[in-house]
Amino acid sequence: MKIIVTKNYEEMSAEAFRLVKEVVKENPEAVLGLATGSTPLGLYAEMIRDHRENGTSYRRVRTVNLDEYEGLPASDERSYAYFMRHNLFDGLDIELKNTHIEDGTAAAPEAECARYNALLSVLRQDIQVLGIGSNGHIAFNEPGTPFDSVTRVVTLAESTVRDNSRLFDRIEDVPRRAFSMGLRNIMNARRVLLLANGEKKAKAVYGMVRGEVTEQLPASILQRHADCILVCDEAAARLIS
Ligand code: GLP
Repeated sequence: MKIIVTKNYEEMSAEAFRLVKEVVKENPEAVLGLATGSTPLGLYAEMIRDHRENGTSYRRVRTVNLDEYEGLPASDERSYAYFMRHNLFDGLDIELKNTHIEDGTAAAPEAECARYNALLSVLRQDIQVLGIGSNGHIAFNEPGTPFDSVTRVVTLAESTVRDNSRLFDRIEDVPRRAFSMGLRNIMNARRVLLLANGEKKAKAVYGMVRGEVTEQLPASILQRHADCILVCDEAAARLIS
């Protein structure tokens, strides 16, 4: 795993942007694996700024997102589909039909997971952007997730429900279940770019980088990826440096 430690969140986002832009410049039809959460917001703002200022085009780029809450339609402000349009897609020239995410309202969840896994086998991520949960999860692959998992419906850990409740009016409103890419789908990406910032992530980052590779800390599987880059700020890197 290659590790880049930056002074702060802005520099982390700028470094992440440089790596994503490299992929799009090299292949205008690249497949970007994207993540939600507050961590990649700076990266997405940089992509929009660069698109406006320098005309970098995303017209033929395809995207696949990691996860979606069960039960939330794309029109719901708290859904990840809405998050992606609001924080990234609406600011680019990307075609919405080329952006993919699990349908949180699918009437047949198993069929929806099968559809998404089939899609991922065609749209292999040239780069997969990831954040990390404070408990070491990636996407919604909570501690205990098998390394050979693929897209399925998962139950969120209590700590994740608490962490994510800041985006809901009440903790009871946080969906307890979600559709999530599995660890095997993530490991299939050509390159993985994991972003982490802030003191709250220091322990998970330590476990991911220096700990044993264990299903108890799902992100630790990334030690086995041939091309994984961790970009984190000094606060998140505190225990590894
Ligand atoms: C959620 C998402 C993850 C994300 C994590 C961290 O649980 N499913 O993909 O990486 O939260 O979120 P944040 O970046 O807001 O700390």
